[in-house]
Amino acid sequence: MLGIALKNQDLLKSTGFYAGQWQAAASGKEFPVLNPASGELIVKVSDYGVDDADQAIRSARQAFPAWRALTAKERSQLLMAWYQLILDNSEDLALLITTEQGKPLTEARGEVAYAASFIQWFAEEAKRVYGDTIPSPWADSRIMVLRQPVGVVATITPWNFPAAMITRKAAPALAAGCPCVCKPAEETPLTALALAVLARAAGIPDGVFNIVPSSQSQAVGEVLSTHPQVAMISFTGSTRVGKILLQQASGTVKKVAMELGGNAPFIVFDDADLDAAIEGLMASKFRNNGQTCVCANRILVQEGIYDAFSERLIAAVDKLRVGQGQDEATSLGPMINQAGHRKVSTLVSSALAGGAKSAYTGSLNAQDPARFYPPTVLTDVEAGMAICTEEIFGPVAALQKFSTEEQAIAIANDTTMGLAAYFYARDINRIWRVQEALEYGIVGVNKGLISTEVAPFGGVKESGLGREGSKYGLDEFLEMKYVLQGGLTSA
Ligand code: SIN
Repeated sequence: MLGIALKNQDLLKSTGFYAGQWQAAASGKEFPVLNPASGELIVKVSDYGVDDADQAIRSARQAFPAWRALTAKERSQLLMAWYQLILDNSEDLALLITTEQGKPLTEARGEVAYAASFIQWFAEEAKRVYGDTIPSPWADSRIMVLRQPVGVVATITPWNFPAAMITRKAAPALAAGCPCVCKPAEETPLTALALAVLARAAGIPDGVFNIVPSSQSQAVGEVLSTHPQVAMISFTGSTRVGKILLQQASGTVKKVAMELGGNAPFIVFDDADLDAAIEGLMASKFRNNGQTCVCANRILVQEGIYDAFSERLIAAVDKLRVGQGQDEATSLGPMINQAGHRKVSTLVSSALAGGAKSAYTGSLNAQDPARFYPPTVLTDVEAGMAICTEEIFGPVAALQKFSTEEQAIAIANDTTMGLAAYFYARDINRIWRVQEALEYGIVGVNKGLISTEVAPFGGVKESGLGREGSKYGLDEFLEMKYVLQGGLTSA
């Protein structure tokens, strides 16, 4: 067993957490958590099943009345204490993320800061859940709108951001007065459990923040999305699984928030600042080894600059260094698992078989070819290829050529997805035309990184429902209650 050399060893937990207690699975079962860079066992973690998930939900439901009854300021202070503890333990949390997820330490540190930022933001927003008064049409009545917590929230989160995807959901839920039952990805439960250690140390009451680690995603997902004591389910992951959860949640008409797949176009027009476009593309495409929902997936380059852009891109990709996440010189870590690796290899092979050209393949620096994928640039990619219709989720830049603005917009919108899109241009009229025409929830103009706690993150079409982060992120966890006070008499 690998273990992890944390300064604060209390952060390394191997059982789930609910009702304020660290609890093994009722079945006694465990599942292995592996280091994706080596395949070594880090630790075995309790494998929660249906009954454990049910217990966790019940503990959250029990905690709900007291949690919602705290003042907004009290909840805010507890969230701020949690935020501070995350910052105090950020180096350990980054090491945990790198060990179980594989991303380079510099990126893991960035993720910890990003994760913490949602807690700070929603600690502040907790105090700004305003209601309304409405001029009444009746002299003896007054009308108010109260905004109240929805109830117990279940969250299901992916492996690509083991900390930030949890805090982006749990922080607004807790701020609104809702307890949470969180199911982290099977690949990355350790960061989630460490967050629970810190939540408890911050004084967040028993039953308010619960972690359900499990390798039985389907069965536990079904409990979370059908349980009568769960009021809302918030999911980040594939569109395929999101649709199943939506169906399951419909039986009890739960509130839902879905942050699903993307297929981001990254368009570079002839009038773009090419250096800025390369910088933005490198950040967007290769962040987390290409394993994010907002990664550039289809790179559309206008014909007049296509050759110059490809050359500059290859020069930039050549500077990336594949390696172990703990090595400070590493820019690209391993793929999360064999299935992810296989998917990328298959998409590249099929693009090459269909006529795309392999313009660049980077070095693996002696890393295991079954776990790491070389940074790759493909040119002459065509819109109908699988590499353009599916999320690549790997370090492959696939370049297509286009001629006109209309053609670029048509290609960009020709997908069932609508999470993030990017484009680079200088002409202000074009900028307005294109940003308005793109059918996406997020548009980065002359910028490749769009993620921040202050802005609404989420997609349209089959990329999701609802928004996370920003002042809008709290609305998802609140119900509106119209109160009519009648029978009032004037003195
Ligand atoms: C995601 O990949 O789903 C999240 C990426 C981000 O928050 O920037």
